[in-house]
Amino acid sequence: MTAVVQDRYSSAPEDLFRVAEIDRPVPGDDEVLVRVRAASVDRGTWHIMSGLPYPIRLAGFGLRRPKYANPGRNLAGTVEAVGAGVTGFAPGDEVFGMSTSTFAEYAAARTSKLASKPANLSFDQAAAVPVSGGTALQAVRNHGRVQAGEKVLIIGASGGVGSFAVQIAKASGAEVTGVCSTAKVDMVRALGADSVIDYTREDFADGGPRYDVILDIGGNARLSRLRRALTPQGRLVIVGGETDGRFLGGSGRQIRAQIMSPFIGQKLGTFVASENAADLIALRDLIEAGDLTPAIDRAYPLADTPAAIRHLMDGQARGKIVISVSARSAQIPDPGSTP
Ligand SMILES: NC(=O)c1ccc[n+]([C@@H]2O[C@H](COP(=O)([O-])OP(=O)(O)OC[C@H]3O[C@@H](n4cnc5c(N)ncnc54)[C@H](OP(=O)(O)O)[C@@H]3O)[C@@H](O)[C@H]2O)c1
Repeated sequence: MTAVVQDRYSSAPEDLFRVAEIDRPVPGDDEVLVRVRAASVDRGTWHIMSGLPYPIRLAGFGLRRPKYANPGRNLAGTVEAVGAGVTGFAPGDEVFGMSTSTFAEYAAARTSKLASKPANLSFDQAAAVPVSGGTALQAVRNHGRVQAGEKVLIIGASGGVGSFAVQIAKASGAEVTGVCSTAKVDMVRALGADSVIDYTREDFADGGPRYDVILDIGGNARLSRLRRALTPQGRLVIVGGETDGRFLGGSGRQIRAQIMSPFIGQKLGTFVASENAADLIALRDLIEAGDLTPAIDRAYPLADTPAAIRHLMDGQARGKIVISVSARSAQIPDPGSTP
């Protein structure tokens, strides 16, 4: 099968990946073989690609070199074959979910991280959902415990996780304020945010409204600023934020928040998203009810995976970036052929 392959860790996608013919994965007893029609890119893609911060290598992605062929984690496609112990999935089923090495024509996926594809989404749209949508759902529902009528501030509302979080918080009945850069204000408003703060011009912690819940997804604001914008009993959920930290990856803020939380009225916390089929089904229900639509910035063919990752790293993406694997035959140049 055709797949994107990386043999070493690097933080620059351009000279890292090659498109190669490799063996199809063989599904284990509790896995299905998926013919991948689309995958997607997120900040985790860059972390797995680069092996940074270093703890990601200890988390099973390979100490000295990548354990998996490529850093793809999301997929949407069609079940090609099922493992001996699999029930509930059959060849021909259209599915979406999480796996490894999904920048490829085929991937083996555990049934515990797979669900049937939302009927009203294309494969490209469905591939955008699993990791970012699941993280947003857990941030809003499990950790923010957002209730109808609450004021919710979503910092990083224009990104992969944030574009889902805005819509899920709105579907929960919250009054949502999104924070993003100037070029993406209209997009965040179109996602359903009641108000939008352009972080290049305004400060969300300037003494204006205070929020019952803050989801901190981008920008690495200091804890003191986040707390200033939170009601006295408010809840802060730190989802992430990119830094150059090679060892802790900027998680010092998360650690300080968890140490401080038991001693103050506000609840400050963080989490590592879990990948599970129940949340994929919950997301599918929201999507099929018309409450959630993936915001797709653009789709790249498989051979242009490096450009897709670069586009995300440059901070240009509005919502999600998709890798359209089914566009492969027309797009991947034959090595050795003249253009
Ligand atoms: N806890 C978990 O399990 C988990 C799971 C998934 C992701 N994450 C983390 O969550 C973070 C976001 O991931 P993503 O895939 O959504 O990334 P993304 O698509 O790149 O989005 C980043 C967001 O941060 C915003 N941002 C950048 N600089 C900012 C600033 N100075 N102030 C306010 N907002 C700013 C961006 O807004 P503009 O583009 O408008 O500038 C954008 O909305 C990453 O750090 C990722 O590692 C954590």
